[in-house]
Amino acid sequence: MIRTLVAITALSMALGLALGTYVVTSERRSGEIGTTGRALVGGPFALVDHTGRTTTDEDFRGRYMLVYFGFTHCPDVCPAALQVMSAALDAVDASRTDIAPIFITVDPERDDVDLVRSYVSSFHPRFVGLTGTVEQVADAMRAYRVYAKAIKEAPDDTTSYNVDHSSLIYLMGPDGAYITHFSHATSIDQLTARLRGLPQVS
Ligand code: NI
Repeated sequence: MIRTLVAITALSMALGLALGTYVVTSERRSGEIGTTGRALVGGPFALVDHTGRTTTDEDFRGRYMLVYFGFTHCPDVCPAALQVMSAALDAVDASRTDIAPIFITVDPERDDVDLVRSYVSSFHPRFVGLTGTVEQVADAMRAYRVYAKAIKEAPDDTTSYNVDHSSLIYLMGPDGAYITHFSHATSIDQLTARLRGLPQVS
C-alpha cells in the first residue's frame, strides 16, 4: 500500500514536472498559455454521468471543470483528493456554481453508474461522476494524459484488484482549455485560494 502510494506520488510528480516544463517552454515560444494548454491536456470526451445521462465536455462550457480521475475502490489516494476538492468548494463560496467538480473513473469495469453515484454523493452534492464503456473512458484518459493500470493477481479477478493511476486534479477553463493542475497532495487552502482567484462566469 505504502509502496503503491509512493510510486503513484513519484509518478504524479514526474508527470507534473513534465507538464510544467512543457507548458513553460511552449508559453515562452508562443506567449499564450491557453493555446498551448489546450493542445497539451484535455479535449473532447463522451461519457455517462451518475444519473445515467450521456455527458460530454461540451456540457460544461461556461463553467470551470475541476477534474479528477480515479476509481471508487481506491483505498486512500482518491478519497483524499476528492475530500480536498469538496472542502475547497465549500470554502470558496456557495455561489460559485460556475465551478463543476468532476470525478471520472479509470475503472469502468467495476464502476457502473450506480456505484459512481453513491460514491460521488458521499463527497459533495455538486460532484458529477462519470463512467462509460472501456473505450469511452480510455479516450477521456488519453485526452487528459492519464495513466492507469489494473493490478490483477489473476486475469479473471473482476472484483478485488487495485488500480495504479496518476493522480492530478485538473482545472479547465469555461472554454474547456487547460488552466493548471494540482497534485492530489495539494492542501485545501492552496486549492481554495486558486479557485477564489478565478474570474466568476456570469
Ligand atoms: Ni486512487
